[in-house]
Amino acid sequence: MHDDPGLFATMYSMRAMRRLRPDAVPLALVERIIEAGTQAPSGANTQPWAFVVVTEPAAKRFFGERYEYWLKERFGAAFASMDWSSPAGRTARAAIDLAEHMHEAPVLVMVCGQRDWPFAVPAEARVGLAPPSYGSVYPCVQNMLLAARALGLGASLTTMHQMFEAELHDHFGIPHTHGVVAVIPLGWPAGRFGPVRREPAVSKTHYERWGGSRP
Ligand SMILES: Cc1cc2nc3c(=O)[nH]c(=O)nc-3n(C[C@H](O)[C@H](O)[C@H](O)COP(=O)(O)O)c2cc1C
Repeated sequence: MHDDPGLFATMYSMRAMRRLRPDAVPLALVERIIEAGTQAPSGANTQPWAFVVVTEPAAKRFFGERYEYWLKERFGAAFASMDWSSPAGRTARAAIDLAEHMHEAPVLVMVCGQRDWPFAVPAEARVGLAPPSYGSVYPCVQNMLLAARALGLGASLTTMHQMFEAELHDHFGIPHTHGVVAVIPLGWPAGRFGPVRREPAVSKTHYERWGGSRP
């Protein structure tokens, strides 16, 4: 068990950990991560999240085959002209590696969100299925990623399942009242945690009005 590095150290070193060891992760740790997720805020405290924990090899293969196919289908053209030594190239390489090994991740957690029209969408504009409450589910997802990092587990946030979500509903019996917001592969890290690479907050911050300088 790893020592909890503390909140700020956790945030500053929570890189997407896409390379995972195949060693089993105790279900109790997965449940602790989910419980941390459910401490997140949500609109009107609706807590619209639901989780499907997938550990069976055949189910992980079902997911992984489709994930890999769609990642390569969707981004194949970008990969063809990629500078693999650039930061974007290294991210792409890790993303491809994850796709090719998705089925070997010890656990896949599908984070689902109850469908609900954003209140800004008027009734007459509501056509088809409402989107899941992304705004209320992402704080939960972030809590889960932070909890995994604090426990020394590797995790990453993936959304490529959007390309084959209908198949997930059929295969895993997910009701259409919910959408799948994110899928988090979880395992002990094969890579090392390290500082995240982000633009300085000062370059993104405006004072009093857009473009305003710091007083
Ligand atoms: C909304 C969202 C969707 C993402 N989807 C994917 C994905 O489908 N596959 C993947 O490998 N990473 C995905 N990521 C992870 C980002 O690529 C990653 O967080 C970003 O490149 C920064 O890298 P870092 O987290 O290692 O610092 C997603 C992140 C977010 C916030």
